[in-house]
Amino acid sequence: MVEQDSKTRINGSNGHAIDGVPLAHDAEMAWREAQGATPLGPFEYVPPMGFREYWYPGVFKKDVGTKKPIFVKMLGEDIVFFRGKADKVYALFDWCPHRSARLSQGESLFPGTITCEYHGYTFDGQGECVAGLIDGPNTPLIGKMKGKAYPTAEHGGIVYVWMGETEPVPLEEDLPPEILDDRNHWYNRVGVWDANWTEPVNQGIDYHEAYLHRKEFSYMGGWTKPWRVKFHGLFSKNLPFFRPRIANYGGVKITYEDEKRICSNPSNTRYGESYHPGVDDTWPKKRWYIFLPKRSGRLSGSVPATSLLGIPSFAHGVELPSKIRTGSGSHKPAISMKMRWMVPVTFETCRVWTYTIGPKPKTVLGRAYKYLWYVLWNKPHSLVRINEWEDLVTFQTDRLRYDLPQKLSTLDTVVIYFRRHLAMRSRDFQRLGGAYGSNHPPTRAGVKSDTGEPNEPAVVGPAVVGVHD
Ligand code: FES
Ligand SMILES: [Fe+2]
Repeated sequence: MVEQDSKTRINGSNGHAIDGVPLAHDAEMAWREAQGATPLGPFEYVPPMGFREYWYPGVFKKDVGTKKPIFVKMLGEDIVFFRGKADKVYALFDWCPHRSARLSQGESLFPGTITCEYHGYTFDGQGECVAGLIDGPNTPLIGKMKGKAYPTAEHGGIVYVWMGETEPVPLEEDLPPEILDDRNHWYNRVGVWDANWTEPVNQGIDYHEAYLHRKEFSYMGGWTKPWRVKFHGLFSKNLPFFRPRIANYGGVKITYEDEKRICSNPSNTRYGESYHPGVDDTWPKKRWYIFLPKRSGRLSGSVPATSLLGIPSFAHGVELPSKIRTGSGSHKPAISMKMRWMVPVTFETCRVWTYTIGPKPKTVLGRAYKYLWYVLWNKPHSLVRINEWEDLVTFQTDRLRYDLPQKLSTLDTVVIYFRRHLAMRSRDFQRLGGAYGSNHPPTRAGVKSDTGEPNEPAVVGPAVVGVHD
C-alpha cells in the first residue's frame, strides 16, 4: 500500500482540479506542455544508459552456480555474479584487476569467492584479492589489488544490484510495493529487447494501443484488458469484439503522483467513430463487427475501484527508475497487473523484466488455474503477441530514432511528466545533481570513489560510467 502523505496527491482531472483540489504543480505543467507540441527530447533529463542511483534486477539466484559464475551486462557495465557454496550472491566488475581477463570465465573454488581462469588470483565478494593460487600463499598482491564490487540483495529468488556510486538505500525502497505484499505472487518473463530502455518505458505510458493494437481483438470492444478476455468469452455476449471500439482517448489525465511514480487514465474515451475534418472522414472505418452497445460505466464498467498499489485504478503508470505498469490489478476481483522493469544493457538494448502480479490463489485448484491462465493465455497473448510482436517490432533497432527532434502530444502527457518532472525527482538528480549522459549531467559525482590515500589499493572498475557503447 502506498502511504498517503503531504507529498502524495490523487487527482482526477486533466489539468485543472478534482473535487475542488487543484492539480499538483508538476501534473499541471505536464498537462499544459502536452498541449503545445513540446520538443522535449528523450534524454534531456533522462540518462541514455539509465538512472544510476537505484537497485535493478540482475539475475535469478538459481542461475548462479555453486561453481560457475554468470555474466550479465547492465547499464553498460560488465558484471560477474558468483557465490560458490556461500548463500549470498556477489557481483564484481567482470574484468580481472590483474591483467583484465574476464572473471566470468573463471570459477568459484571457495565459498563466496571467484578465481580468475588466467593466473588463479582469487577475489571475495568485496572485490579484494584474497589469494594468488600459483603466485604463492604469501603473494604480495593481497591488500594491493581490488576489483569494483556492486552491492547485491535478494528478494523472491531474484538478485538485485545497486548500480549507484553513493550509499545504497534499503532494497525495499526500490522494489514495487506489490511484490512486497504477502497476499500477492507473480510470474516473471525476462528477455533482451533491441531498443534503448527508454522506449519500452515510453511505450508503457503513451496510449498507443487503440491504434497500434487496433487489430487486437481484445481492444476492439472499447476499453478492456487482455487478461480479462477468457476463453469462455468467445461464447459470451460480453465479448468485446462485438462492441464499439475506442475511437480516441480525448487526451490523458494524470490521476496519481508521488515522489517516484505517477499513474494515469484516458481523459475522455470515445467509442465507435469520430469525424476528422482534416481528412473529411471518420475513423475507425470498419464497423462491421459492432452488434452490441458499448459497455456502460467508467471504462469497461468492471475495472476495479482500487488497484494493487492501493490507489484508485489506472490504465498506465511509471515508476522510477524504469518501471511501468499496465492496468491496476486488484484484490477483488482477482485481476493481475503487468509491471515491467527495464534494465539498460547497451544504448540499443535493454533487459526487460516483466512481473505479472496478482493475488495469491488460496487453493491448489486456484493455483493450477492461475498457472494455466498465465502460460496458456496471458504470456502468449499479452507478453509475446502484443508486447514483443507488435510493440517491440515497431520501435526496435533501426525502426525508431532517438536523435531527431520530437513533438510530444496530449497522448504523451505521462511521457512528458516522466522525461522532465519525474527525472528531476530521481536520486541521480537528488544525490549527484544530474544524470550521466543527459543534457543535465551530474554536478557532484564520485561521492564514494577512492580516497586517494597513499596506501589505498586502486579499485579496478569501469573507467567511465554512463557512456553508451
Ligand atoms: S588476468 Fe586474472 S589472474 Fe591474471
Ligand atoms: Fe502496446
